[in-house]
Amino acid sequence: MTVTTCVFDAYGTLFDVAAAARAAAAEPGRARLAACWQALAEDWRIKQLSYSWLRAVAGDHTDFWQVTQDALDWSLEKHALDGDAALRDRLLALYRDLEAYPEVPALLAALKARGLATAILSNGSPGMLGDAVASAGIGDVLDDCLSVESVGVFKPARAVYDLVGQRFGTRPEEVLFVSSNGWDAAAAAAYGFVTLWVNRRGEPVDRLPGQPRHVLSDLSGVPDLGVF
Ligand code: LAC
Repeated sequence: MTVTTCVFDAYGTLFDVAAAARAAAAEPGRARLAACWQALAEDWRIKQLSYSWLRAVAGDHTDFWQVTQDALDWSLEKHALDGDAALRDRLLALYRDLEAYPEVPALLAALKARGLATAILSNGSPGMLGDAVASAGIGDVLDDCLSVESVGVFKPARAVYDLVGQRFGTRPEEVLFVSSNGWDAAAAAAYGFVTLWVNRRGEPVDRLPGQPRHVLSDLSGVPDLGVF
C-alpha cells in the first residue's frame, strides 16, 4: 500500500532542541553557560524525555511545557546555574522559538507539491507547537499539528499514534512516520507505520520491539525513500 500521509515528530526531528542553549551561550555575559551549554542541553533533553515517560507510566500527566520547565530547572541546578533567573527566562523563551533544521521548509513544500498530507505528531503542547511552527514559517506546508494533549498521555502510548488515523482516516501502512528519536521510531514501527529514523547523531538502533524500516542521517532524502 502506498504512503499518502507524512507525519513528523517535532522536537529533535523538525526543530533543533540544542538551539536554545547554543544561542543563549553565544550572547554577551554568558561565560558560565558558554563553558557547559552542550552538557546542559543534553541533560535538559534527557530529563525532559525521562519525565514524560515517568509521568505516562505513573498516570500523572502534565503538559510538555511544564515538563520542559521542570527538566530545565533540574539541569540548571546540576550545572550550578539555578541562581540566574534571567538565564532561565531566556532559555525558555528561546525554546518557544526553536530553529527548524535547514532542510525542513523545502522538504515539507516538496511533499505538499506531490499531493501528500503532512502533519506533526508531538508530545508538545498546542501552544509550544504553534509557536515553533510560526517561528519556522512552516504553517502553510502542514495540514495539521497533532498534540498528545488531546489524549493526555505522552509517546510512546499507542493512543498517541492512534491520533493519525483518527485525523486522516489512514491505515497505519499508509503513513510514513518520521522521528529522530530512536525510541519513537521503534514504537511507531511496532504500531505499523512505515517508519523513518533520522539518525542525526550516528547512534545505535534502540533495542526495542519495533525496528525502523528506513534510516537516514537527515531529512533531505525523504522524497527518495521510494514509499510514495
Ligand atoms: C516530540 C518529542 C518526543 O516532539 O520530541 O514528541
